[in-house]
Amino acid sequence: MLQDILSRYSRNRTCLVMILQDVQTELGYLAEESLAEIARHLSMPVAHVHSVATFYNVFSLEPRGEHLVRVCLGTACHVRQASLILDTALRELGVSDGGTTKDRKVTVQSVGCVGACAIGPVVEVDEVHHGHMTVPKMSRLLRGFVANKEVAT
Ligand code: FES
Repeated sequence: MLQDILSRYSRNRTCLVMILQDVQTELGYLAEESLAEIARHLSMPVAHVHSVATFYNVFSLEPRGEHLVRVCLGTACHVRQASLILDTALRELGVSDGGTTKDRKVTVQSVGCVGACAIGPVVEVDEVHHGHMTVPKMSRLLRGFVANKEVAT
């Protein structure tokens, strides 16, 4: 699978981010072995590939859960108690920031501004914004995952 992705790109170093995006999308995460193989393909140090992979928070070096919950901690959300919402999600799911539940259902990650400040605090679930988030709404949303149901926020 990784070789299929690499075969779509030249060995030009400018392809690095596009390759990382494809690997993230198609394999679900960027394994250390994948980073090493990408570095070989582009003839660049693996440390450089690793630093790019860890710079952008769209990339993950660990397998992510079925659902990705991103809690915005940008300034506009932060001043509206976003950290309490993040704490609620982490506590209720028993994970640390960036962690995934044991059943691999949900990954929770804090992020910078997701570009929807007017409806902050914002939580993004599988790329869908949920605005005006509160602690009770966050709890309801998470219970929906546990019960495998869509929950309107
Ligand atoms: S600061 Fe949260 S959406 Fe902009």
